[in-house]
Amino acid sequence: MKKDIIILAIESSCDETAAAVVKNGREVLSNVISSQIALHTLYGGVVPEIASRKHIEKINQVVEQALSEAQMTWEDITAIAVTYGPGLVGALLVGVSFAKALAFALKKPLIGVHHIEGHISANFIENKELEPPFMCLVVSGGHSHLVKVRDYGEYEILGRTRDDAAGEAFDKVARAIGLGYPGGPKIDKVSCEGNPDAIAFPRAKVADNEYDFSFSGLKSAVLNYLNSCEMKGEKVNQADVAASFQKAVVDVLVSHSMDALKKYDIDKFAIAGGVASNTHLRTAMTEACKKQQVAFYHPSPIFCTDNAAMIGVAAYYEYRKGVRHDWDLNAVPNLKLGER
Ligand code: KG4
Ligand code: ZN
Repeated sequence: MKKDIIILAIESSCDETAAAVVKNGREVLSNVISSQIALHTLYGGVVPEIASRKHIEKINQVVEQALSEAQMTWEDITAIAVTYGPGLVGALLVGVSFAKALAFALKKPLIGVHHIEGHISANFIENKELEPPFMCLVVSGGHSHLVKVRDYGEYEILGRTRDDAAGEAFDKVARAIGLGYPGGPKIDKVSCEGNPDAIAFPRAKVADNEYDFSFSGLKSAVLNYLNSCEMKGEKVNQADVAASFQKAVVDVLVSHSMDALKKYDIDKFAIAGGVASNTHLRTAMTEACKKQQVAFYHPSPIFCTDNAAMIGVAAYYEYRKGVRHDWDLNAVPNLKLGER
């Protein structure tokens, strides 16, 4: 009988301190997430220094909880995995230092994981039949990437954002219309009461790469609309602005993805990252994929936003390929996808 590969994974790249235990790459035995959202809400966004300090306070307890919920002992663990980039350098350092100390003390292999590779791999958790090649749209607070997943750990980036990430646009617009932080889930909710066709916001196209994204023009259009309402003394309908903005983002994400699927002749499509938990995006993608006869995959919302289970899944495939990191593993805040 083949021995199980059990990965203990740690994620601390932004404002969640997370640890998980993953068996054989696809089975999540525990998934503990300590969110700092309430703390950062006070300041209207993530304060990096506060995030790092909170990670230090929480990480020990979160890792121990992940191990005990998985009903595992340290001896059962095959390898220790950790997100080492991209992200906030101080936040990443907490996870990386903790993982290194743990792996060293336990004499276990250490595997550094790319955060975006983790987001993409979240799709393997609940879709047991999903295997590369497939196309994946990664939309989070820091990234908007359209990626061809050629094989496990092998990526070709077809499109990326030229300015703001999709989640960043959600967060900035939410702040402008008085919804506060975190913007994505709040716009998602309030949009249900608004008319998505109330205001005609732009759908940007990038001239030299049809799969690249640009959301800063859309953000400016929303700000201009709010200013002009103020100048005319007109009341702003918050739900209409939210719904119209969200529709503009969703339209662009759907059309770019469907065009790329057609051009590259790929019949499997997945979404990932915090924005992938957006209910309107999920509905629109479901319909578009059905129309185009493409199989559509998405993680449950808990595996869309930052978590360590997705890091454990990505680490499993890296482990099988023989990837091991040394004690000089460092946090790399601007790590590129596909780099080691
Ligand atoms: O993947 P994630 O947890 O962290 C990063 O790696 O950035 O993504 C966080 C982003 C935030 O910008 C948040 O506003 C957005 O995902 N988000 C959403 C929703 N839930 C989270 N955006 C739109 N609709 C949602 N339901
Ligand atoms: Zn993330």
